[in-house]
Amino acid sequence: MKDRILIFDTLMRDGEQAGHPMSVSTKVAIARRLERLNVDIIEFGFPISSAAEIEAGIEISKAVSKPILCALAGVRQSHIEAAVRSLEFAKKPRIHVFVSTSDRHIKNKLQSTREQVLEWIHNEVRRAKQYFSDIQFSAEDATRTDPDYLIETFKVAVDAGANTLNVPDTGGYFQPIEYGELIDEIYIITPREVVIAAHCHDDLGLAVANSLAGIRNGANQVEGCFLGIGERAGNAALEEIIMALHTRGDFYEGLSTGINLSELWPFLNFLSGEIGYPIPFHKAIAGANAFGHSSGIHADGVLKDRLTYEIMKPEEINWQGSEGSLTSHLGEAGLADRLKKLGYDDLDLASQIISEFKALGNIVGRMSNDDLHMLIQEYYSKKEMVEHNLFAFSNDGISFASTAGVNNGTVVIQKGGLNYSAHAVGDGPVDAVCNAIDLALTSNNLLIITDKEVQFNVIHGSGGSEALGSVRAKVKIGDDIGYGRASDINLVKAYARAYLDAFNHLMHVPVSEEKEELRKVYD
Ligand code: KIV
Ligand code: ZN
Repeated sequence: MKDRILIFDTLMRDGEQAGHPMSVSTKVAIARRLERLNVDIIEFGFPISSAAEIEAGIEISKAVSKPILCALAGVRQSHIEAAVRSLEFAKKPRIHVFVSTSDRHIKNKLQSTREQVLEWIHNEVRRAKQYFSDIQFSAEDATRTDPDYLIETFKVAVDAGANTLNVPDTGGYFQPIEYGELIDEIYIITPREVVIAAHCHDDLGLAVANSLAGIRNGANQVEGCFLGIGERAGNAALEEIIMALHTRGDFYEGLSTGINLSELWPFLNFLSGEIGYPIPFHKAIAGANAFGHSSGIHADGVLKDRLTYEIMKPEEINWQGSEGSLTSHLGEAGLADRLKKLGYDDLDLASQIISEFKALGNIVGRMSNDDLHMLIQEYYSKKEMVEHNLFAFSNDGISFASTAGVNNGTVVIQKGGLNYSAHAVGDGPVDAVCNAIDLALTSNNLLIITDKEVQFNVIHGSGGSEALGSVRAKVKIGDDIGYGRASDINLVKAYARAYLDAFNHLMHVPVSEEKEELRKVYD
């Protein structure tokens, strides 16, 4: 066994599929923080799926240099070429080639044969190897694959040049003992210089347990997403695996990760704010109650000897979850201190948001870290709007009313000193206002909207009906995708502003020249 377990974060690829769409700038911000955390491998996307994924690879490559940057590709020439393009500027590029290997997937999904799949693996791993030396191969649905055939696919992949073999429990089907045994079987036949990776999903709540069983049996790379984000029930929560290895080094025979533990909790908090995913109260390692002791017996025990009920030291991961709630009485210095603890490095941030912070406090009373995240996102969105001269609503530029069961929305959008207004009806107030936005943009020939798909995601801050609501919007028109976000006490307004923000991103936020070029190639 090698001592160092490599941490592979797939938040921006597997995790993004979970309804947490991320813009290129969000991906770059997260990648920078992952680098500070000392994550070994960052999987940033599936480049064949859109020009934005390729752009994400290019932009992240410029922003980080330490971690390996990994792009996913299916067993097709076009996939490999898109991955290569996305990794063109990466200092440490890796292509991750995958194909399904279980009979169920081969027959029903791929409508192919085992022999054909072996040929694809051979051809496409070899093709990828012509571009980069670091190639990972994944056998999708490995845990429901005939083990003999699985091993055959891995042998073909290694012969063709793969240096990492990934064993995904795609459906979250396996039990820890079974997963450990499978990794052991693979370990025995795998050349020592080839890395074996555990990649587990949480459908039965076993992703972390399975991953650790994999590590005990020879996996030296573990894949997952911080906070356990991911498709369906999620991917393995990396912070739990990292802390299990750190806390139980005795059991894991000294295996450890290279993670900067003091960055761990601030990163989790930053991530929660950045993607708009509130951390559940009882979430292991990250939650506000993760290190709390409310029962009298426990609190008494901890006071006498911390280790009676504490198996980890929260200060090692810079955990600040139990910090008291915030009120508008906190001054700028106190706010700056809290922001620093939450992992925000921008020294001017407290002075920039102090008036909004106090105004919100005066309305809702006590505020939480989530409220702070929302105020910060709002500050950055508005800054971007000014910097790039984006579309914005005029004062009172969003109104809606329901009369005799009909929902009416009216908007006044401004840009470059001009006003664009429209009125529309809809199935509800949000629909009416969004229809009015569409009309204001299309009737003034600012945008052609065909083939539109919209996805919203909402979270609430502290307080009751007066709480801040933070809305994220993803708007897809044809192959172009725009991401927007906004927070407001008035939820309909938050929807409208997030929706317009997504159009701003789709139409105006400057994109790199490479993206324009790529659009021509891949669209
Ligand atoms: O879960 C899975 O099978 C995957 C592969 C693409 C690696 O995410
Ligand atoms: Zn997966």
